[in-house]
Amino acid sequence: MAKRVLVIGSANIDFIVRTPYVPERGETLVAEGGYSLMPGGKGANTAVAVSRLGAQVVFCSRVGDDAYGERLKKIYAENGIDLRFVRTDKVGQTGLAVILVENDGSNRIIVYPGANMRISEGDVESAFTCCPDAVMAQLESGEDVAVYASQLAADEAIPFILDGGGARSDFRLNKLAKVDIFSPNEIETALITGIRPDTLDDCLRASMAICSQTDVRYVVLKLGARGCYVYDGKYCDLIAPFVVQAVDTTAAGDAFTAALATEFLRTGDITASARYANAVGALTVTTAGAIHSLPTRETVRRFLEQI
Ligand code: RIB
Repeated sequence: MAKRVLVIGSANIDFIVRTPYVPERGETLVAEGGYSLMPGGKGANTAVAVSRLGAQVVFCSRVGDDAYGERLKKIYAENGIDLRFVRTDKVGQTGLAVILVENDGSNRIIVYPGANMRISEGDVESAFTCCPDAVMAQLESGEDVAVYASQLAADEAIPFILDGGGARSDFRLNKLAKVDIFSPNEIETALITGIRPDTLDDCLRASMAICSQTDVRYVVLKLGARGCYVYDGKYCDLIAPFVVQAVDTTAAGDAFTAALATEFLRTGDITASARYANAVGALTVTTAGAIHSLPTRETVRRFLEQI
């Protein structure tokens, strides 16, 4: 039977503009790459990715009492997600991300969190009544919620997987209870540890710095086109990437962690799960948008078969 994963985190509408380069201060750039409004948010991207990869998903979040909120909830339902704990907030607007995507697929994101910042400890506590097999969170909807979720997961002895998305430089990992998998990208690793994971030596130093702050079973650094780096407190491994033509890297990190968690829950093998997550991340960058780009389990199977 499929595992039940509780995903706690943000739901956004993404306002995406394609641009040949990022304009300087005071410059007006007329970019003709088009724009779109699409569903996103690190929490929602994770929830949809986990669902498409075959696990049951319960999503805990807040959207605004507006047209975007309704639109997002409809999309989550279409993706088979349990919405009982997605609340419509009467105060905050639905979260909005403004995303600039350059020709090489790289992105820059500014998030107005709105209703996401109103996800409360009470929301998290209620969502735990779904009896999850594992809990996933990110840091975009406030650290306190992630910290509280880690405590409840530790109390119930269920795996807690934290993505570093949304981390701020003042975030201290030592507030977290036990973390089974912590997966930051390069920027988040540098923000949290002060070490940019440029070389293998830097990756090891950053991973050790993370483990010295809190009880983490596996650190998995997302290194973009360089693949990922796995550290279990004793051994480390650089897992090679799948080379693809990047169109838009938005949500690749969310998809990666979703795949890592889903596959790890299924197999218990962190190295094989990291390779699988590399494949899912690679597939995600080949399509524009966040939720729109997330592959299904069948798509991943066919991709790996071709390789
Ligand atoms: O990780 C990508 C996501 O970051 C986007 O979908 C955007 O909403 C921001 O949350």
